[in-house]
Amino acid sequence: MTNLAPTLTLRSGGAMPQVALGTWPMEGDECETAVRSALEVGYRHIDTAENYLNEEPVGKAVRASGLDRSDVFITTKFNRQWHGDAAAGLQACLDRLGMDYVDLALIHWPNPDQDLYVKAWEGLIELQRQGLAKAIGTSNFKATHIDRLITETGVTPEVNQIEMHPYYDRAAERAYHAEQGIITEAWSPLGRDNGLRGEPLVHEIAARHGKSAGQVLVRWSIEVGAATAPKSGNPQRQAENLDVFDFQLSPDEVEALAGLQAGPQADPMMDSDSFGH
Ligand SMILES: NC(=O)c1ccc[n+]([C@@H]2O[C@H](COP(=O)([O-])OP(=O)(O)OC[C@H]3O[C@@H](n4cnc5c(N)ncnc54)[C@H](OP(=O)(O)O)[C@@H]3O)[C@@H](O)[C@H]2O)c1
Repeated sequence: MTNLAPTLTLRSGGAMPQVALGTWPMEGDECETAVRSALEVGYRHIDTAENYLNEEPVGKAVRASGLDRSDVFITTKFNRQWHGDAAAGLQACLDRLGMDYVDLALIHWPNPDQDLYVKAWEGLIELQRQGLAKAIGTSNFKATHIDRLITETGVTPEVNQIEMHPYYDRAAERAYHAEQGIITEAWSPLGRDNGLRGEPLVHEIAARHGKSAGQVLVRWSIEVGAATAPKSGNPQRQAENLDVFDFQLSPDEVEALAGLQAGPQADPMMDSDSFGH
């Protein structure tokens, strides 16, 4: 039996499954196999990007799944070299995916050093109008960048995908997104390899609910109202990360987790706005 995640409603009207499969850093056959098993256990949202070099296997896995294209929500993101020509950037993504639209297209990083992210946003607005991207948004944008998009184009991103987990709880960003009607989506919701999954508090809460540490962390992003993209290449852990809708964290647990302090080795991975892609 498959276990489907609930959906969040995008401003443009679409339904975005709240749990996505994160696909970085899987490539080739490894990625295709992982996406196929994820679709089998019930994922209906796959998070890919030009930069992950895996749009091709993601597309293949979706086609091989036997699911209708319209039953799977695909997010992709294009790199910095396309900020001046979002149409060409997104078309290259679509060609690699073998699809004629994506459900959500994101600008991967604002890269203000090249000062072209407003142009990239204007490009996405047009691509949404043409139906090539059903919904549009940003990733790793700070409030100042989003304010500028809104001021200069009058169009607010539907989603901003940012690093978020209890070590880096992004309360200020979430409040800003809520004010603007932007869905927050968490990347690295499990803390990737920063030690978060080994925290005694996470294990204590997990034991209390009869759940795993990973499930507590995925559930934390759900409790704060976000969409979330945990990555796993392992079918059991994929199923585990999706099986988080039969329990709730208490407000005290949500707050206690957000109070966890990362050690010096676990600073936010990419608290930057310019990046190589
Ligand atoms: N927008 C951006 O700039 C950006 C940046 C980074 C990442 N992302 C997206 O966000 C996704 C997730 O982030 P991430 O890959 O950095 O880190 P993550 O999802 O926080 O952590 C992934 C790690 O956790 C392990 N894991 C998964 N489920 C587990 C469980 N239930 N119990 C124990 N371990 C578990 C995985 O190993 P196994 O695979 O062996 O299970 C992997 O090592 C990426 O894949 C990508 O799609 C976006």
